[in-house]
Amino acid sequence: MSLAKLRLTSLRTISPAQKISSSAWRSTTVCRKRFMSGDVARDPMTGEAVSLPDIEPSLLKITRTTDPKTLPPSSSLLFGRTFTDHMLRIPWTATAGWGAPSIEPYGTINLTPSATVLHYAQSLFEGLKAYRHTDGTVTMFRPDMNMKRMNTSAQRLALPAFNGDALIEMIKALVNIDREWIPKEPGHSLYIRPTMIGTNGALGVQPPNEALLFVICSPVGPYYPRGFKPVPLYGTTEYIRAAPGGTGAFKLAANYAPGVVAQKSAAKAGYVQNLWLHGPEHYLTEVGTMNLFVALKGEDGVAELVTPPLDGMILPGVTRDSVLALARNHVSGIKKLPGLPDQLKISERLIHMGEVIQANNAGRLIELFGTGTAAVVTPVDKIGYQGSDVHIPTGEDGMGPISKPLWTELVGIQTGTIKSDWNVVVTK
Ligand SMILES: Cc1ncc(COP(=O)(O)O)c(C=O)c1O
Repeated sequence: MSLAKLRLTSLRTISPAQKISSSAWRSTTVCRKRFMSGDVARDPMTGEAVSLPDIEPSLLKITRTTDPKTLPPSSSLLFGRTFTDHMLRIPWTATAGWGAPSIEPYGTINLTPSATVLHYAQSLFEGLKAYRHTDGTVTMFRPDMNMKRMNTSAQRLALPAFNGDALIEMIKALVNIDREWIPKEPGHSLYIRPTMIGTNGALGVQPPNEALLFVICSPVGPYYPRGFKPVPLYGTTEYIRAAPGGTGAFKLAANYAPGVVAQKSAAKAGYVQNLWLHGPEHYLTEVGTMNLFVALKGEDGVAELVTPPLDGMILPGVTRDSVLALARNHVSGIKKLPGLPDQLKISERLIHMGEVIQANNAGRLIELFGTGTAAVVTPVDKIGYQGSDVHIPTGEDGMGPISKPLWTELVGIQTGTIKSDWNVVVTK
């Protein structure tokens, strides 16, 4: 969308008591309509509905660093430890709406000790990547999906919604300024972390009336620098990541802190990640901080790719959605992926440990893998479950026969060797 068009759409009515929707997945446009139709902020004197400004790209102010950091050698990059020279900040208040965006030197954030984020975890974030193609073009992968998810997370926390297209424009400007930070080596990228926090100082649980949206960027290397290494999972039943009616479908900071103890206890038992099992049936939900796919043959011998449905407990992953779309396009003949079986059933359905074990025992389990922005695909070779290990088949180079063609296509798109309208150009 052009900046002029964004300007035209940038005024909206916001509601201090934004309604929380039960749907985990909705476009920004639909979100905006809903905010327009719900409770509205009113002028205390006249009672008239007040329109507050949305993110306004034309107000962007850029202050470049006078002290640029030395770019680290790409071989030394550890995930999320190095940050680029600049960051984006956009303040919000309940009375003035979104303020002017600014790109500034990367630096600290001043918060009052009573800031709501510090007490009530009013914090949400996103994770997406920018890739440098061999011809120098820099693209982001499906940023619109992250904007939609960020708006649904904001809605769930009573934090302000915003125009996703406008934020994409601002992120493009940030990535462009720091484009030298995108490593040139294959498999490397720039990890982008948009975040929103409640900043007003007030004890007492209530919707924040001040917030800050900021975006930082971190150059990253391949998640598996020495090739794919399948990971062992601990089938976790002592702790839960999500519950019906909870917040598992939203990317809230509060979902992650309680997972650390579970992760530590899985690591102590010799496993790399938690396989989050839900309910007495032990339904498989997610793997660590990734979505989960199981590939198995049915009793009729037909291969099926299963992922748990978006029932409110599953984060609607961008990689999950992309894998499903590529697999469905393959099956419908829109784009055949070499190596993927012609006959493949694709299911978003519940699957429990009993079914996985039964398929494994009958030699019908093909593979099990996690998906996420950081690693794209992570194969699994073992599940520690109720005192013993379930050994999962893996391919020669780690990935199995279903994940490999999907991974090849996805990474080909992200790195620009395969053309796709999922890529949004930052700079050519
Ligand atoms: C809990 C959780 N599930 C799944 C994912 C995968 O989502 P995506 O593919 O959008 O990175 C993530 C990572 O963002 C996550 O934190």
